Amino acid sequence: MKKILVINGPNLNMLGKRNHEHYGKTTLDQVGSKLRAIARKMDCSLLFFQSNHEGSLIDFIQGNSKEADAILINPGALTHYGYSLRDALEDANLPVVTVHLSDIKNREPFRKIDAFEEVSIENIYGLREKSYTKGLDILIKYINKLA
Ligand code: DQA
Repeated sequence: MKKILVINGPNLNMLGKRNHEHYGKTTLDQVGSKLRAIARKMDCSLLFFQSNHEGSLIDFIQGNSKEADAILINPGALTHYGYSLRDALEDANLPVVTVHLSDIKNREPFRKIDAFEEVSIENIYGLREKSYTKGLDILIKYINKLA
């Protein structure tokens, strides 16, 4: 069975309480349930991790990527400047899909910079929690084609 790491960066533990206009009202637990339902149907296992600390995210990737087939990640604000996290993803040498609830290309100028674009097979913006479900679907289809 294929295994996917589902990683959320800083402040995403607060989903549901954050700006509803940008991020919607869905909590991270609810996003997780939706992803679990997709994974069950597509015969995949998910390992979830959220941290507000870049180093902890890197430790998780280094510690778990050998036994994983792919990574789904929302790096939060690290998207715009988190080059150590970006390098950890590159070093993991796994297919990565990056997801964002909001449309980072149409917000403040600092959000237009995406340090993760080059290390991702796909970047999904602006579909609120559907960015995650779409991203997982794309990733599962991608790794199943590789098999
Ligand atoms: C985000 C966008 C980032 O700019 C922001 O810092 C977040 C969430 C998103 O999912 O839209 O924390 O990654």
